[in-house]
Amino acid sequence: MTSDSFPDYEQRMAQAYDALDAGDEAAAEAALTAAVTLAPEAAEARGALGAVLRRQGRFLEAAAQFAAAAAAEPGRTSWALDQACCLADAGDHDAAWALASAALARRADDAAGHRLAARLQLARGQTAAALAHAREARFLAPHDLNGAAEVGQVLVDAGDPLTAVEMLEPLLAHAHPADPARAGALVLQGRAWAALAEGEKAARCWHQALEADPEDAGGAARLLAALEAAMATGGADLTPTYVKALFDRYADRFDTDLTQKLRYQAPQLLRQALDTVGVGAGLDILDIGCGTGLGGVEVKPLARFLAGVDLSPRMVEHARARGLYDRLWDADLMGALAEAPGAWDLVLAADVLVYLGDLAPVFQAAAGALKPGGRFAATVERWSGEGPYALRESRRYAHAREHVLAAAGGAGLDVEHLAPVAPRWEKGRPVDGLLFILRKGA
Ligand SMILES: C[S@@+](CC[C@H](N)C(=O)[O-])C[C@H]1O[C@@H](n2cnc3c(N)ncnc32)[C@H](O)[C@@H]1O
Repeated sequence: MTSDSFPDYEQRMAQAYDALDAGDEAAAEAALTAAVTLAPEAAEARGALGAVLRRQGRFLEAAAQFAAAAAAEPGRTSWALDQACCLADAGDHDAAWALASAALARRADDAAGHRLAARLQLARGQTAAALAHAREARFLAPHDLNGAAEVGQVLVDAGDPLTAVEMLEPLLAHAHPADPARAGALVLQGRAWAALAEGEKAARCWHQALEADPEDAGGAARLLAALEAAMATGGADLTPTYVKALFDRYADRFDTDLTQKLRYQAPQLLRQALDTVGVGAGLDILDIGCGTGLGGVEVKPLARFLAGVDLSPRMVEHARARGLYDRLWDADLMGALAEAPGAWDLVLAADVLVYLGDLAPVFQAAAGALKPGGRFAATVERWSGEGPYALRESRRYAHAREHVLAAAGGAGLDVEHLAPVAPRWEKGRPVDGLLFILRKGA
């Protein structure tokens, strides 16, 4: 930059900021382009022009400006992160990730870098890495409501809405009503509650978001309309995200609530029935939906090898603390059954099938996982109305006896035992249930 051009440059920048203040993006772009021509190595002008171009959706042109700013001012990682954001906006997630990860390697304590990394890793299908970056970002900037909304978005999209709720709830409780970040965070909080099947809480957040931002930049009105439409048609089925979060939330209270308040006894009833049919000992057992391991306590004496799988990592942690299982992991039971065909003498499902509607697929999967002569022992709640099964108000499915028999027949499993039981109590009354043991032909 020559000494003659310097005043011109300053003048152009002043014009650009005036234009931005007045909301005249075209005039701002013209002034910034002139400033960049006068001083090609001025990172500030490059960065400001990049931001204008990005707002217009001209992502690759914007990325080029941020790249020039980064070259002019290499010590400032935010230029590289801006460039990465533009590349991500343009759909090039791998190039964006290369830039973001290099920036993070230089500044590992940059919360914005971790937020971007979380978004990019999610877009690249790296969910676990995305969640790790989201948690790091939250740790580095725990009070930043704007940042929290961005992190929350990743958490919800990555299937961890419970952590999003836990993060946003206290921040929103303390946010100033006029905080411009509040409306966006409320929209996100509503999305997290909706993913947890908490429709009323979601609706409350979205109404508050509309009050905070009547122009509705976050789309709360559209989300409310979709929620009302879903509620009018009876609500959605239970999703794995909902079940996982339900039990993650419940894990610390589960044993006390179930055994004391709900008089839960499905595991004991299953063990008695298994003894009645004479299963013997030395068995390879898979406890699907093992929860905190109450089933494991009952069947451990029958086991040569005891494995447990559950959707909820926090339930699995409690099961692990019992020290009973030879293998424990968090996953969907369908995948766990498919993992090792013909491997198990006994598949146990104590009070788990209540989270599944149609039983045919899980019976098929259990049949495939059993050794010849192996058994599938489970409890369900009994449906006596019309149709094969129904989602009850308790948000648990109940299944008709005929549906159990049909699903067993369809999977080629013989009914060795089928009896009415009360696996637990609800509202002071025993729940009408069924306990069955199905056997694969030898
Ligand atoms: C009511 S608890 C019963 C836990 C344990 N079987 C017992 O008797 O204490 C139901 C468990 O099933 C798990 N679960 C529900 N659907 C599942 C699925 N599709 N895959 C794996 N686990 C599931 C839940 O996470 C929860 O821990």
